[in-house]
Amino acid sequence: MHVLTLAYITFFSVGLSVGLKNDPDAQRCLAVGLECHESAVCARDPVYPPGTEQAYYCRCLPGWQGDGINNCEVPPIVLAVAHPSRCNETGAQSCFMNKLPGQEVQFQVKSPGAPNVPIQWFKFYVGEPPNFNSYRKLLKPPQKEEPEDRPIPEGGTLTIPHIEEDDFYENLYWAEVQPTEQSTLGTSPVVAFDLAEDERLNPSPTRVYFGLETNLIVVGAFLPGDSMIIKLQNYIPKPHKLHHVRWKKEGNLTAFTRQHEQLLETTGPTLSLSHMKEKDFGVYRAEMFGRKEGVPGMELIATRRFHVKKDISKTCNGTRSAGHCRCNPGFLGNGEHCADIDECSAELADCLPNASCRNTEGSYQCECPTGYRGDGRTSCEDIDECAEEDEDVTSCHDDAECANTLGSFLCECKAGYMGDGKDCLGEE
Ligand SMILES: *[C@@H]1O[C@H](CO)[C@@H](O)[C@H](O)[C@H]1NC(C)=O
Ligand SMILES: *[C@@H]1O[C@H](CO)[C@@H](O)[C@H](O)[C@H]1NC(C)=O
Ligand SMILES: *[C@@H]1O[C@H](CO)[C@@H](O)[C@H](O)[C@H]1NC(C)=O
Ligand SMILES: *[C@@H]1O[C@H](CO)[C@@H](O)[C@H](O)[C@H]1NC(C)=O
Repeated sequence: MHVLTLAYITFFSVGLSVGLKNDPDAQRCLAVGLECHESAVCARDPVYPPGTEQAYYCRCLPGWQGDGINNCEVPPIVLAVAHPSRCNETGAQSCFMNKLPGQEVQFQVKSPGAPNVPIQWFKFYVGEPPNFNSYRKLLKPPQKEEPEDRPIPEGGTLTIPHIEEDDFYENLYWAEVQPTEQSTLGTSPVVAFDLAEDERLNPSPTRVYFGLETNLIVVGAFLPGDSMIIKLQNYIPKPHKLHHVRWKKEGNLTAFTRQHEQLLETTGPTLSLSHMKEKDFGVYRAEMFGRKEGVPGMELIATRRFHVKKDISKTCNGTRSAGHCRCNPGFLGNGEHCADIDECSAELADCLPNASCRNTEGSYQCECPTGYRGDGRTSCEDIDECAEEDEDVTSCHDDAECANTLGSFLCECKAGYMGDGKDCLGEE
């Protein structure tokens, strides 16, 4: 029983359960008689050509220490996102936020149990192998004569006062526990750097990645069989001198790993889709490569995301013309024009009495009141704010107790302290 509890705590605090490890080459190691540790993956040594027997070996998950077969130990200090509720999307050791160029953003990490551990911040500039290398840049506090709108690292916090076009994914920022033996401070700040596949799939518990996403540009809506063209020039304010454009179709996103993206053959600034099929609807990402001051190679300098939207209001048989189309459920009309039904005001919605109703295209959503979570149709359950790990949710003072209430929580200063619970002063 005790052992189970300990193991649970260990994996929980690391935030990366071994059950979630990605080990695509597992069979390769087994095939040569190597049984990797449960916290290791089968990795390939790039010195050997792919497919050769000796090319595969067991390697502890990034940040873990050991021989990969008999032992792999959790690093002594781990990092975590300090405020997961500020992320639009979280994954293993990663936080993604939706932002616009020009806005300010702050990334924050915490190291439970080791609050003052030295932390380094990096920016990762993605290149396009094998043509262009990727780079990482060690971020340092701005010097006196430098402009003040550069990213400012300060302990576990990185402040970006002014988001630039090249701050968006697949460029990334990350925080890392500074290794004790060798300090990289003082060495060349920009170095060629690639994230190995197993680092990407199994982020290290001593690193936290932050990604920014741009807003979606909606194009459409289209019916199956339609054609469309996106001209990138119409969506970038000043004509960038683009050296290369890469287009991707987004699949099923899982924060940092995003392994389901599909690279398209198009390499120019124009994307055209003709006679669209079901699989063609969805989100497309245009990644523009060019030169950036301070980085030696060709890097991702801007990104645009397009939602090629399907017209879900009707279904047509062969042609779009009247008489061939029917309105879909949730829409009303003659087949040529199909208007969305507002289920909320038409009192067709089936939400719990205390949940609020929000109309969506073709349907509606029920939303639980603040402090409750659930689908709003069958349940709205009280959130135990005191049990949440995020300091944004519970902001009680260190000398206060958190008490859960229906829909909210209370902070109460401990015996011998005075205050409102957010601030508590010891009595004289
Ligand atoms: C997610 O992003 C949108 C902007 O696209 C923002 O308005 C919203 O507050 C974000 N949600 C969270 C939980 O941060
Ligand atoms: C994403 O993929 C997972 C596993 O393959 C699946 O369970 C999940 O439903 C998918 N999500 C979406 C939105 O397609
Ligand atoms: C579609 O149109 C064709 C020819 O007009 C007709 O034979 C067919 O039954 C129609 N299909 C549906 C689902 O309405
Ligand atoms: C909302 O309604 C459900 C079921 O009627 C009930 O269990 C729950 O306590 C209610 N919540 C609030 C905030 O009134």
